[in-house]
Amino acid sequence: MLNQQIVLAARPHGMVKSGDMALHSAQVPNLQVGQLLVKNQFLSVDPAIRYWLNAGTTYIRGVEFDEPVRCFAAGEVVASRNDEYSVGQWVTGLLGAQEYAISDGVGLARCDPTDGPLSQHLGVLGMPGMTAYFGLLDKGQPQAGEVIFVSGAAGVVGTTVGQIAKIKGCRVIGSAGSDEKCRYLVEAGFDAAFNYKTEDTDAALKRLAPGGVHIYFDNVGGDTLDAALLNLARGARVVICGALSQYNESAYAGPKNYMKILTARGILTGLIVFDYAAQWPAAVRELAGWLREGKVSTREVIEPGLSSFPDALVKLYQGGTFGKLLVSV
Ligand SMILES: NC(=O)c1ccc[n+]([C@@H]2O[C@H](COP(=O)([O-])OP(=O)(O)OC[C@H]3O[C@@H](n4cnc5c(N)ncnc54)[C@H](OP(=O)(O)O)[C@@H]3O)[C@@H](O)[C@H]2O)c1
Repeated sequence: MLNQQIVLAARPHGMVKSGDMALHSAQVPNLQVGQLLVKNQFLSVDPAIRYWLNAGTTYIRGVEFDEPVRCFAAGEVVASRNDEYSVGQWVTGLLGAQEYAISDGVGLARCDPTDGPLSQHLGVLGMPGMTAYFGLLDKGQPQAGEVIFVSGAAGVVGTTVGQIAKIKGCRVIGSAGSDEKCRYLVEAGFDAAFNYKTEDTDAALKRLAPGGVHIYFDNVGGDTLDAALLNLARGARVVICGALSQYNESAYAGPKNYMKILTARGILTGLIVFDYAAQWPAAVRELAGWLREGKVSTREVIEPGLSSFPDALVKLYQGGTFGKLLVSV
């Protein structure tokens, strides 16, 4: 059986290009004892994929040439020689940008169809939703009445952070790169949102949070992080979740205003969602409940066909889309 894959063709330098990836065909090998075969139905287009295309190892090794581009995918088990998985089950995991994936079951998550459609298990009920949940609740420790600022707010992580913060009784401010995205955030329950491309972030925070920000949930890094540091309330927590403004840069810019952590008696903390893997099932159940109750909502954009994956990754960084970006296989 032939397997269509999107593989790494050239190491990206600067902004990722669709030509850095290529469509490739390979045979699906026979299953060994302990393995299962998944037919991917959706691929998750996540910002971290750009980071994983770099050479070397950080918290995870870089993708090699001619290897399927690493990404989360959701699909159905179509053959199994693993006692833990049976044909017809829905699973998600780092299954790669390809039609079929062989797995030994390690790192796979079973999806309960009653929680939501398969695509949502890559978004609000999947790795990005887990990032929002643990990043905010464990690292951010929100208290009712506090002010939280979320950057990159119109993505699935940012919107879910804001909505969980509302559940916890916080006042929520988001930033995003267009007026349309800001309107969406207010419809999604944010108290306020501003367009960081047309309003200075420091000025916007002074306008919207004159008493300071108790939690800054940082999805973008760079100048936005520096502006947020200028506006911390005493005892603030800064959760470093991601650096959308930096992933395509060869050297990452560090914060200039870090002394504000000292004067605010604040905490700057980092997050890797995989550290919470053992707690994901309980968090998925709670998020699925909030979805059913309408306290959390989600928006998906689905690009058709495996071959659209490279363009979709470029589009993610161009900011032309928002919500959860997926590719249907
Ligand atoms: N630490 C972890 O374990 C973990 C796990 C998952 C995700 N994350 C991080 O969580 C963050 C959000 O993830 P997501 O999937 O929800 O992403 P996302 O918001 O869907 O990412 C795409 C958006 O990024 C924004 N963007 C692109 N270039 C930018 C730039 N130069 N400066 C500022 N914004 C830029 C654009 O929105 P605008 O139009 O609004 O600029 C674009 O629509 C990312 O940083 C991701 O790496 C971390």
